[in-house]
Amino acid sequence: MQSAAPIPTEDEIAALIEANADLEGPLLPILHALQESFGHIPQPAMQMIADRLNITKAELHGVISFYHDFREAPAGKHVLKICRAEACQAMGGNALAEETLAKLGLDWHGTTINGAVTVEPVYCLGLCACGPAAMLDDRCVGKVDRNRMDALLAEAGA
Ligand code: FES
Repeated sequence: MQSAAPIPTEDEIAALIEANADLEGPLLPILHALQESFGHIPQPAMQMIADRLNITKAELHGVISFYHDFREAPAGKHVLKICRAEACQAMGGNALAEETLAKLGLDWHGTTINGAVTVEPVYCLGLCACGPAAMLDDRCVGKVDRNRMDALLAEAGA
């Protein structure tokens, strides 16, 4: 289960930025520190990072969206990752993903209205022989068919 993200203050954000700002290539360490502390990159941090590192918010957004582990909003109580890599695709992973997202009324990275589940893509979970694969929080599950997915969603409270 994911823990609820605390609401960060600007002082807390600034402290994490400053703690990493003088490193060589400080952007990723700053983003990792914020993500680890707050479970996402808080909105006020965007301008603060851009100002401190003298980069544009567009550049910053590009980096955050390139790395799938960074979030711009807090995740739901549980995170469901569905594998989108080749071996799982060959075993029906795309259809499973599309059906799951449609059932929940979400796009990738979306969170159910009740805050129970965030659905994210992942690119290989090391279960390639048992596709389609998914991961609910820290637990990997193979051979995920419609019934198994429904069980995972029910377990997560979606
Ligand atoms: S391709 Fe899905 S687990 Fe490896």
